[in-house]
Amino acid sequence: MSNAKVKVIRTHEGHLLELVDEDVQSVNAFKTRLKLNQDEYSLNDTQDTEHIAKKRKPQNDVEVSSLTTDIGSTAQEPSSVSVDEFRQYHQAKSRVREFYREQHEKQTMAFNLQARVNFKTKSRARMTIWEALCKLSMLIDDSDPDTELSQIDHALQTAEAIRADGKPRWMQLVGLVHDLGKILYFFDSEGQWDVVGDTFPIGCKFVDQIIFHGFFKGNPDDSHPIYSSELGIYEESCGLSSVMISWGHDEYMYYIAKSQSNLNEKALAMIRYHSFYPWHREGAYSYLMNKKDHEMLKEVQEFNKYDLYSKSLKRYDMKELQPYYLDLIDEFFPEKYVEF
Ligand SMILES: [Fe+2]
Ligand SMILES: [Fe+2]
Repeated sequence: MSNAKVKVIRTHEGHLLELVDEDVQSVNAFKTRLKLNQDEYSLNDTQDTEHIAKKRKPQNDVEVSSLTTDIGSTAQEPSSVSVDEFRQYHQAKSRVREFYREQHEKQTMAFNLQARVNFKTKSRARMTIWEALCKLSMLIDDSDPDTELSQIDHALQTAEAIRADGKPRWMQLVGLVHDLGKILYFFDSEGQWDVVGDTFPIGCKFVDQIIFHGFFKGNPDDSHPIYSSELGIYEESCGLSSVMISWGHDEYMYYIAKSQSNLNEKALAMIRYHSFYPWHREGAYSYLMNKKDHEMLKEVQEFNKYDLYSKSLKRYDMKELQPYYLDLIDEFFPEKYVEF
């Protein structure tokens, strides 16, 4: 990477990114919970999750206790969907609508190619992983009086939930760094839409399982003769590693981890695909998958439980945990300083 200087921007807008991201996550948590309960109710596959939610909405404020799923882990999702939660889901959903309109219209092949050129030709910052975690928390949370270091909280909560379940050290490290790519927002992103939100493949059909699919009408690739076809520029079963996934914090952190850490392929898949909900939750794009991707899918789904449901379970003392995680970082990022 060159040492071209990149101006850090948007330090006063960090909390706006956090608000959008919180809403995106709560919509995903709700939809995932409903999805997990679908089998139990033997519902028709064609019903979408909102329809199911409406169908199940109770008349009064009583928990839908029968929507129980036990996946047996520390990060297991709450076992029922309350009316309150249902309301929160709809409020969040209307807020994320506009975010997805912009994201779906602007995540084009042209943009994605340029984003990767920008990534490879610039060095945005050089710091340790721990410094980056602290910096991300500071940038996002300092401007918002209502949150207290929620980024580092989420990183520690995810990592600690994974650790509490006796998962390997590399997976704990994934929990710690999986969202670190959000730091991109303060370097050279164009907005929130190229940092957070669900991700999807570029260069082939935008499938119906992508949230707010209708907004792709405004994306020029949606009417492109090749990019709009089912396989697009890809071959059947080519493998996801050959597929370009929309640019955001997942792709950005994946490239950093791939080139500067000794994390294994499962860890890299967890980082790269954790926001790829159309794939890991909805089961879309199976025609692009190869054998390896089927293995990786299980890993990403396993990680997703911790990402979605470890939030706000417990707050940790950063100072107390720091030595453990500094050690963990050293193990997988052998060079003290990382190029962001
Ligand atoms: Fe994320
Ligand atoms: Fe996360």
